[in-house]
Amino acid sequence: MDDEKRNPGVDPYDVIVVGAGVIGLSVAWCAARKGLAVCVVERSEPGAGASSVAAGMLAPVGEASFGEEALLELSLASHAIWPEFSENLSAATGLETGFLLLGALHVAFDGDEAAEMQRKGDLHERLGLDSSWLSPDRCRELEPRLAPNLVGGLYVPGDSAADPRQLVTALQAALHSEGVEIVSNTVPSGCGFGDSGVTLEIPDGAPLLAKRMVLAAGAWSGDPESAWLPEALRAEVRPVKGQIVELAAEPPHSHPVAERIVCGERFYAVPRSDGSLVIGATVEEKGFDTGITAGAVHELLREGYRALPDLAELRFVGARAGLRPATPDNAPLLGSNPIEPRLLYATGHFRNGILLAPVTGEVIASLLVDEEPDLQVDLDLFRPDRFIKPSDPSKAVTV
Ligand code: GLY
Repeated sequence: MDDEKRNPGVDPYDVIVVGAGVIGLSVAWCAARKGLAVCVVERSEPGAGASSVAAGMLAPVGEASFGEEALLELSLASHAIWPEFSENLSAATGLETGFLLLGALHVAFDGDEAAEMQRKGDLHERLGLDSSWLSPDRCRELEPRLAPNLVGGLYVPGDSAADPRQLVTALQAALHSEGVEIVSNTVPSGCGFGDSGVTLEIPDGAPLLAKRMVLAAGAWSGDPESAWLPEALRAEVRPVKGQIVELAAEPPHSHPVAERIVCGERFYAVPRSDGSLVIGATVEEKGFDTGITAGAVHELLREGYRALPDLAELRFVGARAGLRPATPDNAPLLGSNPIEPRLLYATGHFRNGILLAPVTGEVIASLLVDEEPDLQVDLDLFRPDRFIKPSDPSKAVTV
């Protein structure tokens, strides 16, 4: 239906997406491209949450962790379609996503750090992932501005990066050209599920109606203060704070401090094509606090400087803090609620929201049109109800 002819409170959308971070926007774009009428509701401005703080590392191999094989499979699947996702988005909008096939170098400055990275290299070998241990000389051939006292590094040639803020802008433009409405600065005031579908109450307006709803509200997906969603349907997601520092080359595009992503034990540095650098990130259990602390800025700059001393010459642009949506097993919640199938979840992406945006968009859009997702990964591993124990009566779903 043409949006101009839509009668609020009467004409239903096919789907309402709650949350306009990269996940919600990607779901909305993929759903709209399948011909669905979509509305996105955002508590603030699109991308204002974790998306505008994320450094944009697309690092399925470098970020692979022991015991997270299911997440690794999903991450590799999404990384494989990232170039096509970016090209399609650029073709639809004429805008860039900042996608760059950079490769990553994980550098060690003492024996302990080297041992830890070599254990990571062993994990990669066991899982058939591409990485190799390099001598200090070889590291400095790749990245000549690394500090001379490094003892070696783990090279991960396939990891890449995108610019999340460019991505948000491009996704918004793509949604605009698909006729998708984004209702910003709106926290829903209630919702109901009935025979005719979903009703989302919003303050100061007619309720929004849809056949289905997708919860893509990031760290707010499980917020007990978001009483608009019945407690039993809130996602098992908690906020995990991350602070980053942004540095810019002066003049832009002057000789970059690093050509690749450079990671240490307590930091990572992601270069942009204009020579600027994002250094991240703290991992803090501080609830919904987004304050920027001197200690975090000091620590990120100290660790970055230890590896790349020339970053001291860059201009300090600022620091940001955001909230990662974390789940108990660090993997996202994808799919419908078995008790309330009109509610789907696309949330809990923790450290991997930018990386997992393409696969999440494709999977959820397929489910919305009742198609089998084209994915070689078992989606059951990401079931949204996987943390609810049958014996836990407080989590029994009554809607
Ligand atoms: N993906 C890196 C982070 O969350 O800090």
